[in-house]
Amino acid sequence: MRVIVDPFYSELGSRVILLGGFDSLSFDFKVFPDGEFYVRFLGDMTGLDVGLVMGCLPFHQSDCFLRSVFFVSTLRDLGANRVVVVFPYLPYGRQDKRFLPGECVSARIFVESLLRAGADVVATIDVHSQDVFSVFGDRFVNISSLPVWEEFLANRFGNGFFLVAPDKGRIDFISNLARTINVPYTAFRKVRDLKTGKIMSLEPISVSELKELSRSYDIAVVFDDIISTGGTMARAIRKLRELFNGRVVAAFTHGLFLPGSVQKLLDAGVSEIIATDTVKNSFAIVSVAKLIVDFFKSISHK
Ligand code: R5P
Repeated sequence: MRVIVDPFYSELGSRVILLGGFDSLSFDFKVFPDGEFYVRFLGDMTGLDVGLVMGCLPFHQSDCFLRSVFFVSTLRDLGANRVVVVFPYLPYGRQDKRFLPGECVSARIFVESLLRAGADVVATIDVHSQDVFSVFGDRFVNISSLPVWEEFLANRFGNGFFLVAPDKGRIDFISNLARTINVPYTAFRKVRDLKTGKIMSLEPISVSELKELSRSYDIAVVFDDIISTGGTMARAIRKLRELFNGRVVAAFTHGLFLPGSVQKLLDAGVSEIIATDTVKNSFAIVSVAKLIVDFFKSISHK
């Protein structure tokens, strides 16, 4: 498989190429003065299997989508055999339901458009919720970041900590993580206003369980799939701080860290912030490169 790295975030893609021993695919890319993209592939694409590692920065998700459509569609035109696109962070992934009548289910349309443009498979890491993508069968793949978190947390803290899910959407992931590294976990229940997105309440699902864990451990790791505005994590940390004096680690798969988000975590009493490198961010100390390498290798045998 030949690998293309999105020029807007080349660090993760390069790690994938180096770790996996893949050949990179050369292309010319530029942005015209008016902001439009130009792409030209160099050499013969006929019969190639190509993997793309996209890099979608916060605020520029729509541009990232357009670049990926240009890459995929052009590769198809030029005779590529297989085109597999990895969005380490899937843009529009959170609008995965029609929460209110008449809403666009952006997550489904995003993936559908890529498949229509000619992608054989679209993959991502820790998608917000998988249900909406089941219509695509094995043409949509969600790669779990569980193995890299297991290794990282076990090396860093052994099993001397407890895990916290800031809302019920994370409970499955956290219960699996807790089981494999043999630590306890608890969770909060979050209620958002469906129109404004504002968090209306965030409370422990069991105060007595949280009290017991707070008495027994010095470290709590609160894990969420995404930090965007920081509102969810800050609320969770504040709640936790009502009962817990130890070290609070905030861990995320997708560190979007919108302006003001880190300050919210600091004000709430965070002790450490950790994220993966699915998007470029200053707290990325856990790499998902190996997961993408393994995925590309598994798919090239099919
Ligand atoms: C929502 O259900 C997600 O799992 C995250 O909790 C959410 O996207 C975080 O966003 P924010 O940082 O803006 O609260």
